[in-house]
Amino acid sequence: MLFLFVLLSSLLSTVLAVANPGACTGSCNVHDPAVIRRTSDGTYFRFSTGNKIQIATASDISGPWTIQGSALPSGSSIALAGNTDLWAPDISKVGDVYYLYYSVSTFGSQESAIGVATSTTMDVGTWTDHGSTGIRSYTGSAYNAIDGNLVLSTAGSYYMSFGSFWGDIYQVPMANPPLTTAGTSVRIAYNASGAHAVEGSNIYYRSPYYYLFFSSGTCCGYDSSRPSQGNEYRINVCVSTTINGGYYDRNGVSCTASGGTPVLTSHDNVYGPGGQGVFADSKAGGAILYYHYVDTTIGYGDGQKRFGWNVIGWSGGWPTI
Ligand SMILES: *[C@@H]1O[C@H](CO)[C@@H](O)[C@H](O)[C@H]1NC(C)=O
Repeated sequence: MLFLFVLLSSLLSTVLAVANPGACTGSCNVHDPAVIRRTSDGTYFRFSTGNKIQIATASDISGPWTIQGSALPSGSSIALAGNTDLWAPDISKVGDVYYLYYSVSTFGSQESAIGVATSTTMDVGTWTDHGSTGIRSYTGSAYNAIDGNLVLSTAGSYYMSFGSFWGDIYQVPMANPPLTTAGTSVRIAYNASGAHAVEGSNIYYRSPYYYLFFSSGTCCGYDSSRPSQGNEYRINVCVSTTINGGYYDRNGVSCTASGGTPVLTSHDNVYGPGGQGVFADSKAGGAILYYHYVDTTIGYGDGQKRFGWNVIGWSGGWPTI
């Protein structure tokens, strides 16, 4: 009888336990992931920082992930330091073409630009680099031109949100097709306190709101120095009924006035989750939040960050994990 009870309760807890993060097998070492499914065959493509934008593929969000190579093996045509490294990819499908945005920069520098490459299949060897989108920052600019994210408004116009640290997150209208900017940048998120550390924005539309996800806090270098507790990377959200904002958090605080509602913060063996993106995936059962994080049982080095993902639950219109 006791045995049966133990068996039943362990079965029940297995069923009830939702893995957080979801499982990952194969190549799960990643920084600033960007994920999309190829329309033609459902293959998951994951792009990430470094290795001239690393491409990995899998048949499922949980893997097994296999590294395929670099999107831009010769680097970017943008003539800036960092053009053979390439950071923070963003991936979108526009018509029949996949658009890959990437950042050219170096650590601690505002000499940065957001570039774009296109492909119809996303396979290694098929990417055409178009160079700069026109989003560029210089020493002393109001922002740092990195971490681009393309979003389509319900009215059919393209926008890109971008930026970090120096004045935080901005949004600019894009041309159609979205190879270049088509207007001026406006600020959509700013943290007035501390290091103003807000970056890695990602806008997701779920009727009737636009959700602005962003990473706050110290992203990197945890193996040499860790920020005070709570100031490590974490994922926040603000919402708006219009793509241009204003974006507000759950308490009604504007995202340009230090607002932001936590979606995912350090927990259990997960430390400093961020560099996130969101995409709708019918196979995985809804909107997926994916990100990188430190698995404290593995190590705190930047090269040790892991790929995490969760299906988003929605509570009163707010995303929950
Ligand atoms: C804004 O910065 C302060 C100081 O670093 C931090 O305590 C606060 O959590 C930040 N706000 C958000 C929304 O992350």
